[in-house]
Amino acid sequence: MNPIKVGLLGIGTVGGGTFEVLARNQEEITRRAGRGIEITMVADKDLERARKLVGKAATVTADAFEVVNHPDIDIVIELIGGTTIAEQLILKAIENGKHVITANKALLATRGNEIFAAARKHDVMVAFEAAVAGGIPIIKALREGLTANRIEWIAGIINGTSNFILSEMREKGSSFETVLKEAQRLGYAEADPTFDIEGIDAAHKLTIIAAISFGIPMRFKDAYIEGIAQLTAADIRYAEELGYRIKLLGITRRTPQGIELRVHPTLIPKRRLIANVEGVMNAILVKGDAVGATLYYGAGAGAYPTASSVIADLVDVTRMHTADPEHRVPHLAFQPDQLSSVPILPITEVETSYYLRMRVCDRPGVLADITRVLADSSISIDAMVQKEPSAGEEQVDIIMLTHLTVERSVNVAIARIEQLPVVVGRVTRIRMEQLGTH
Ligand code: HSE
Repeated sequence: MNPIKVGLLGIGTVGGGTFEVLARNQEEITRRAGRGIEITMVADKDLERARKLVGKAATVTADAFEVVNHPDIDIVIELIGGTTIAEQLILKAIENGKHVITANKALLATRGNEIFAAARKHDVMVAFEAAVAGGIPIIKALREGLTANRIEWIAGIINGTSNFILSEMREKGSSFETVLKEAQRLGYAEADPTFDIEGIDAAHKLTIIAAISFGIPMRFKDAYIEGIAQLTAADIRYAEELGYRIKLLGITRRTPQGIELRVHPTLIPKRRLIANVEGVMNAILVKGDAVGATLYYGAGAGAYPTASSVIADLVDVTRMHTADPEHRVPHLAFQPDQLSSVPILPITEVETSYYLRMRVCDRPGVLADITRVLADSSISIDAMVQKEPSAGEEQVDIIMLTHLTVERSVNVAIARIEQLPVVVGRVTRIRMEQLGTH
């Protein structure tokens, strides 16, 4: 059988890695796929660099539309990123009957519903393993491996940049700003790090995970998103003293009232395996009703790990290329007419526990005032620490851990605590999850 022909849009870090790994493992990949897979066209703005990378193996063009419109191309790999030109190219490729492989989580999370509708209309596959957690085959696990299960919840460290920053802040006791600069120097964080540190990148990935886990459309707009920029080294240290580690988690959970879809810094017990995922690594903990908890760990970015996912999709698409579209795995794991419109819970309705830190004047009755406010909101305290005042200071930090509480009650209590004359400044609130798996 003739090799299947692939057009690659963007030969930067991941595109270059894909080209290289495909060439390096060609024989093994062909034995798996049942036919050869050849990248025959490459589109990139930097023609000179692209030509150097591919040599004579592929035609190089600066016009990506030339690739998606070319009659010989069966599969288009989109690695350009962004949500403007990438969407036009993907939709054009679909319209032309080509299968699409993409690592573009921002595009899928925000425009995925329209893209998958177009793909259904034209009977093509859109595969996206590389869009979530780089090299970890989490899409395959959720769409296929765990298909027997009713997924209950998922909690993931799905942004390596922010995990690196939190690890460094904890290990070195440095401030967020100092570590961010270091991450930029090392090339982990972009010059504009907003998407990574504000939780937006993690929310894109979580949106995709939730869709294929619960059989819902992409609901990025309904996600609650809070990043790590406000975290202080002091909170990380206090959490550590109480037996917890702070991670930027993407959490999605099925509840009787709706689905939780939230990204925020989270205290998790230090003894959990996922709490010990450090640096730029990613990990995703999935709780299914039959299998129990499963944990997936690996590189969430980088040329070769992400290429590993792109090529896994290439092999899947190559194998299913000639299959009746009805017999393929549905794009979002559930049959398209079976997607559910269950609501996403607003964060105010989410029930979790909390780390609360407040700075107070060190005088009699202060604790009584604060605990009275919490009691009025039916918030039960799980643990409490009062730090010794520094020499010459009259203010102290009080840290309280609460039992499960609905967020709107905590909001009311925090507003009242902040009005107490003995409380200085704002109350710091960080959500907590036990991630118990039984
Ligand atoms: N910027 C992402 C991260 C990697 O830091 O994890 C690509 O998704």
